[in-house]
Amino acid sequence: MMDYKNLRPATGSGRKLYIETYGCQMNVGDSEIVVAILQKEGYLYTRRPEEADVILVNTCSVRDNAEQRIWGRLSELGRYKKARPGLRLGVIGCMAERLREELFERRAVDIVVGPDAYRDLPRLLRDAGDQAGRSINVELSREETYAEISPVRLDQGGVSAFIAIMRGCNNMCSYCVVPYTRGGERSRDPQTILREARELFDAGYREVTLLGQNVNSYSFGDVDFARLLADVAGVSPQLRVRFATSHPKDLSDEVLDVIAATPNICRAIHLPAQSGSSEMLERMNRKYSREWYLGRIRAIRERMADCAVSTDLIAGFCGETQDDHRQTLSLMREAGFDFAYMFKYSERPGTRASREMPDDVPEAEKTRRLGEVIALQNTLSLESNRRDVGRRFEVLVEGRSKRSEDQLFGRTSQNKVVVFPRGDLHPGDYVRVEITDCTSATLVGRVVE
Ligand code: SAH
Ligand code: SF4
Ligand code: F3S
Repeated sequence: MMDYKNLRPATGSGRKLYIETYGCQMNVGDSEIVVAILQKEGYLYTRRPEEADVILVNTCSVRDNAEQRIWGRLSELGRYKKARPGLRLGVIGCMAERLREELFERRAVDIVVGPDAYRDLPRLLRDAGDQAGRSINVELSREETYAEISPVRLDQGGVSAFIAIMRGCNNMCSYCVVPYTRGGERSRDPQTILREARELFDAGYREVTLLGQNVNSYSFGDVDFARLLADVAGVSPQLRVRFATSHPKDLSDEVLDVIAATPNICRAIHLPAQSGSSEMLERMNRKYSREWYLGRIRAIRERMADCAVSTDLIAGFCGETQDDHRQTLSLMREAGFDFAYMFKYSERPGTRASREMPDDVPEAEKTRRLGEVIALQNTLSLESNRRDVGRRFEVLVEGRSKRSEDQLFGRTSQNKVVVFPRGDLHPGDYVRVEITDCTSATLVGRVVE
């Protein structure tokens, strides 16, 4: 039985657990695993921190501003501890792994647990209960994938769910803290992935996103990523399959062929470029050049004219010149990205860049370059959306629009949000929508037969 069907309301006599999640989609999935582990121990999940006996904060270290925000939040949550002395406050996830004991020293934290030690949470919480604090496990593992644990879905009645298919990362991009906080790469048993996908479908979910830092290097026995994608898509033609993240160096023609041949694998590939300059890519240790990246874009377009491509970009990495920056802008135009996540470079302690490369682009210049990148992407996103006006798309309905009661929103296969009049439709329905208008962020449409 899947636990998410049995999400119990916090009305019993068990201790109440509140959890807050920051960072990437992997963390969203991990919080669901943590709730599953603790629910089995009799904890009751609550959405109200003021009534919790245990508060966990699932944290992110990827950029300094992510950590700063979480430090602030930990101070706020510390106030609940003053009001309720029995309350235990825990930090889990990437900051727990990176900062370890420092968390106890800087905040009133009782438990620190790294991403591979969640099975130990029940014991750590017992210890923290007995000794009033300072319980820690930040061991990383070569094997842990939490394979057989059925995550407790925290969005009851949802349409779309994440499935972690692997953990950790072996890539050692020179700017990135993830290999240090998450440990080495390991793939999860495909049987448990397929079982989870089937159970989600049976519970009414209509979209799964397969998650890993580099899904294209998935490998378990003789199952590679192309095969896994095809198998998950085989669960039902009514189940949309997405995946993230693809590393450009590993995105194979075979995977593209599987996507092209399978209508329910979505026409949207997230392919982080990071920079458009081969020299920067070399310093970033990305293991591909600008030409290779653009070659992958061509390989996508040759097979699927209607496939959206999104990306991640970093402005102001160590040694980035005006020319390198211009090459990023020109790559964006050439690739014609539909969407992008854009960041200023943030030096992370312990990474190769922090040890070997001076963080030499001044803050004001990073801000200026990021501004240019964002402005260009807004233009590209608007152009991409304008091309969709007049076209028809199959849209998976996700829920009510935030702006208006009588509008629904959903997504196209290309992962674009569409808003349209409500009619007699419900989350999880598929509907054909003709696009009538757009902004750079949203499509507007009307339902057609
Ligand atoms: N595994 C994924 C991304 C993980 S982190 C991949 O390889 O694409 C998500 C994004 O954060 C990265 O793609 C990168 O653009 C950004 N990022 C990572 N470290 C960063 C840093 N030190 N400064 C700024 N951005 C960073
Ligand atoms: Fe970080 Fe690179 Fe791994 Fe992505 S592939 S998580 S950017 S080291
Ligand atoms: Fe952040 Fe850790 Fe994800 S550093 S981006 S939560 S893997």
